[in-house]
Amino acid sequence: MSNSVKRLEDLATMVSLAKRRGLVFQSSEIYGGLASCWDYGPLGAQLKMNVKRAWWNAMTRREDIVGLDASILMHPMVWKASGHIDGFSDPLVDCKSCKTRFRSDNTASYIERRECPNCGSKDLTEARQFNLMFKTHMGPSEDSGSVVYLRPETAQGHFVNFENIQTTSRKKIPFGIAAIGKSFRNEITPGNFIFRTREFEQMEMQYFVKPGTDMDWWEKWRETRWNFLKTVGLDEADMRFHEHKEGELAHYARKAGDIEYKFPFGWQELEGIHNRSDFDLTQHAKFSGKKLEYFDEQAKEKYVPYVIETAIGCDRLILAVLCAAYREEITPDEETGKPDVRVVLGFKPEIAPVKVAVLPLSKKAELQEPAMALRNELAKEFDVNYDDSQSIGKRYRRQDEVGTPYCITFDFDSLNDKKVTVRHRDTMKQDRVEISQVMNYIAHGLRNF
Ligand code: GAP
Repeated sequence: MSNSVKRLEDLATMVSLAKRRGLVFQSSEIYGGLASCWDYGPLGAQLKMNVKRAWWNAMTRREDIVGLDASILMHPMVWKASGHIDGFSDPLVDCKSCKTRFRSDNTASYIERRECPNCGSKDLTEARQFNLMFKTHMGPSEDSGSVVYLRPETAQGHFVNFENIQTTSRKKIPFGIAAIGKSFRNEITPGNFIFRTREFEQMEMQYFVKPGTDMDWWEKWRETRWNFLKTVGLDEADMRFHEHKEGELAHYARKAGDIEYKFPFGWQELEGIHNRSDFDLTQHAKFSGKKLEYFDEQAKEKYVPYVIETAIGCDRLILAVLCAAYREEITPDEETGKPDVRVVLGFKPEIAPVKVAVLPLSKKAELQEPAMALRNELAKEFDVNYDDSQSIGKRYRRQDEVGTPYCITFDFDSLNDKKVTVRHRDTMKQDRVEISQVMNYIAHGLRNF
């Protein structure tokens, strides 16, 4: 390993790496881009899939949690009942001098001095509430009767399906419903790359419990989620828990807190763990006229369950995972032996977009054909990258920069001894391995990386 390691210091370095290596691009870039919208490129899409799979498996492979994939468009009454139509807004202020728009509740210069954060002018409008939901129309007419909203959270799909899911899955309380899906918020101040955007993906789980047991479950979920974040590569030293005080609590919350992460731009919310009490089921029962209760057969009692919610943005978690994985090392170049800087995304193997790269030493057909055959064989089990351009040293560096755990070099000796060189991303140690054993070697290596 290297003598000196540097971590990510600024977000711009990550934005540039993400673009250069096909992780994340600005949306609609050829038209000048669309503010705060991002596209995941080939490696980014794979990374995102892996993060979602890790979350999904951690949730739905438990006996007490089932999955859901609800629609983005829901009946408008859902948002009346949930409180979003009346209360899901941020205070917005306009600067009359430079026309900057900003949120007045979290802008330091406004809170302290009533000044515009951009030009310092005091010529500002009064704060007015701005609803964050995106509106659209269903069907051909655009009258008020056709208004529907793009969901601002996935959670409401869980509540309105509570009875469907409880009766069809025959789950007994306590049990949870987990979902991954897009949410939309017309944020006043999006920014910091994929941290805060207007279109984003959420991973939410609502855990239905007996009233009275809710605070115990809140504590348990807080710990469970903390541990999960470590398994996807976050370092405990960069995590902290922030409990919401009275004034910070959302309208539905009885108790709430966030796991915060130390991003290059400071400590920020990563995941919320909320005790939503019976607020949502009671509201939906009131507005829909349907009873949303649970009958406990053993105790022969009926009650409206309380809900413990864990809610994290997939894109925000990806940003945290990228920041945690990034390191720069001064290390001898593997070809010249001279000191060199290598950039590594030290992903956990299950999160890495590519698990193994196959690198034929030459472009000659006699190497390309068997190397491609090995690539195709490995692709039955793993996400594989095939790279045959430039020097082997440059190819190793390219794979390090996207966090590929193993590189396999197919050389001329491989034709005779039927062995390949397998290089470990972190130790840079190389092993000569029988081609017939490579699949097992990689599978074992990834499990014990
Ligand atoms: N159902 C509860 C709920 O949605 P939230 O705290 O508003 O709670 C949960 O959102 C998580 O969703 C946040 O902790 C964050 O990770 C993510 N999130 C919220 N707004 C976001 C945005 N504009 N861009 C990216 N992620 C966002």
